[in-house]
Amino acid sequence: MNLFESFQIRDITFRNRVAVSPMCEYSCQDGFANDWHLVHLGARAVGGAGTVLTEAIAVVPEGRISPADLGIWSDAHIDKLIPIVRFLREQGAIAGTQLAHAGFKASTGVPWREHGKPVPVDQGGWRPVYSSTTRPFTPDAIQPEALTPEGIARVAQAFAEGARRSLDAGFELVEVHGAHGYLVHQFLSPLVNTRTDQYGGSFENRTRIVREIIEAVRKVWPERLPLWLRISASDWTEGGWTIEDSIALARQVKPLGVDLIDTSSGGIVPTAKIPLGPGYQTAFAERIRREAGILTGAVGLITSPEQAQHIVATGQADVVLLARELLRDPYWPLRAAHILKQPIVWPKQYERARW
Ligand SMILES: Cc1cc2nc3c(=O)[nH]c(=O)nc-3n(C[C@H](O)[C@H](O)[C@H](O)COP(=O)(O)O)c2cc1C
Repeated sequence: MNLFESFQIRDITFRNRVAVSPMCEYSCQDGFANDWHLVHLGARAVGGAGTVLTEAIAVVPEGRISPADLGIWSDAHIDKLIPIVRFLREQGAIAGTQLAHAGFKASTGVPWREHGKPVPVDQGGWRPVYSSTTRPFTPDAIQPEALTPEGIARVAQAFAEGARRSLDAGFELVEVHGAHGYLVHQFLSPLVNTRTDQYGGSFENRTRIVREIIEAVRKVWPERLPLWLRISASDWTEGGWTIEDSIALARQVKPLGVDLIDTSSGGIVPTAKIPLGPGYQTAFAERIRREAGILTGAVGLITSPEQAQHIVATGQADVVLLARELLRDPYWPLRAAHILKQPIVWPKQYERARW
């Protein structure tokens, strides 16, 4: 496999194996996309990425991480997304969105304003009602309220409605956000899931919500379109979720219609010791791919063209997702293809600058 080789999932052909990893931009009012999203995401499609994923898009308002997050909890959100998706597709990128619910990490501030501190209810915040535990993420966070089984069913339905609206907006890919300590991960991880009902305790019980969400999404998301699932493959903490759990989960969700596991890690407890370094999560993607027989995406400190090419050429992952490197350089794919001497189509408007 080569980085700049096209590949297919279901009926969708991706022009290459580079994807823009989801990145919150904290730039919305009431969840509506705006010019920032058009220019930010559009630039990365112009820059040659095969897949452009939006930031986490909240399926219910209380599922936003911050009050400035993108949302898809009402039909009114669709209209602002349509021209953005259209532009991404016109550039030849596959437009995807990341359906998300923050659970007990909701109602936190914008990094450059409140530095990620909880936003109190009387200052535009809200009580994170949807959580698997009543323990807040950090001691100063707002006390969350545990979801009832009916509340869980409503969440699964909200993911499905988010998928339906994504389809109406023209997206050809949805990713369910099951990583980074957000709601789904709060069920998966034994470190925070203290439930004693059918959603807590055993592996089967803790993973139930993922299966229910995937099944609900697949009912409305067409057979012909790909569905990805992002997970934290390890909690990096004794007694937490492990890579073996991730492999077992991947085996369960594949027959339900998940096509690719986007393999991240961490985020459920602030004390985890994560051995940050180039490609530090890639070995997880490689194991899931090999042992669960499913496509994977590698993400995390992938920055050089050679490193990205090595990951796909050695079969560790089918896709590489870049976040911060693509903030530094939206044209990274054009440059990487040149360095690797692999084919890539330049936007015709930029042809005269071709390396
Ligand atoms: C500004 C910013 C916002 C992010 N927002 C999200 C998000 O909405 N959803 C998500 O799954 N990950 C999010 N992430 C994590 C990235 O997608 C990625 O997994 C992480 O940054 C590691 O990749 P990198 O080393 O290429 O930056 C965010 C990262 C950054 C830097």
